[in-house]
Amino acid sequence: MTTAASTLDSAQGADGNQPSERDTSAYCPADRQARLKQQVASILSAPVYDVAIETPLQPAQRLSAQLGNQVLLKREDLQPVYSFKIRGAYTRVARLSPSERARGVITASAGNHAQGLALAAQKLGVRALIVMPTTTPRLKVEGVCARGATALLHGASFPEALAHALQLADRHGYTFVPPFDDPDVIAGQGTVAVELLRQHQGALHAVFVPVGGGGLIAGVAAYIKYLRPEVKVIGVESKESACLQAALAANSRVVLPEVGGFADGVAVAQIGKLNFEFCRHYVDAVVTVGNDDICTAVRDIYNATRSITEPSGALAVAGLREYVRREGICDKTLIAINSGANIDFDRLGQVIERAGRENP
Ligand SMILES: Cc1ncc(COP(=O)(O)O)c(C=O)c1O
Repeated sequence: MTTAASTLDSAQGADGNQPSERDTSAYCPADRQARLKQQVASILSAPVYDVAIETPLQPAQRLSAQLGNQVLLKREDLQPVYSFKIRGAYTRVARLSPSERARGVITASAGNHAQGLALAAQKLGVRALIVMPTTTPRLKVEGVCARGATALLHGASFPEALAHALQLADRHGYTFVPPFDDPDVIAGQGTVAVELLRQHQGALHAVFVPVGGGGLIAGVAAYIKYLRPEVKVIGVESKESACLQAALAANSRVVLPEVGGFADGVAVAQIGKLNFEFCRHYVDAVVTVGNDDICTAVRDIYNATRSITEPSGALAVAGLREYVRREGICDKTLIAINSGANIDFDRLGQVIERAGRENP
């Protein structure tokens, strides 16, 4: 595989002995293949359909004609919590032991994992406390409370909310359910790839995946590279939170000094640890896009589906556009994951304005 990520495979351990965070790529290919196989088995047994639906893969005709490629949208915005996040959260909670469930669950989330966890906990009869940054859109806070969980607003951004949630888990014994850095969460998110490869069995050039902490792309990349290694997996990040791109460039997870919150769902300063391991081996490239590109993609999706996505939810389409422009490809089949639709109504004006006029 000739991948941006795979050029990083030669990293060596600092002590040449115990694998550190920096050098786990030093695992031999056979070990890596075994780990991949294990993750794929976990994806295939993830119990997501207790709560999630199999979402449609929908052609975007106008965008396809504009770009000269067949564009298909994986409609994760149609999930019961209006994002794919229910898949990973439910898989994690369903796999907790009875004693872990009895202690109640806690997480930190910019909003969509929060709603996924709230619904998962409600379905499985587990108490849930969710720590969210104070900047979280109102709709997402309401979505958590409506599903019977307790929302606690703390900190201006995700890292502060996360630190507080970990502190509370430690102090009160709650079971922490990570938003992305966890094999079960990754397994749940990977079920998106199981569906899309089943729904589209013909030639497929690339799948575009939005990246925050890397839960979705880790699961999708693991499954696709195991089954269809010729299909490219392209990560798409906001320029304001491109933590995977920075980590790949540095060959180590870095903490971004600043993160913008326009695409609040992906406003993460550091790619997850396990997520980075999957990404560095199985992701072919990362594309970054600006906020205006994201808003244009919200419009593209509206034109194709008559549905509104949130900025993070439209990221993959924005990246797909950028990739086609950059690579000059045509007559290929490209899939973008429409990952979420939780946007406050009063933010729509801002999105429309930034998308610009369609036919100036
Ligand atoms: C709508 C949406 N898209 C994409 C992502 C990115 O997912 P991940 O953190 O698994 O990379 C998120 C994360 O919350 C999200 O809410």
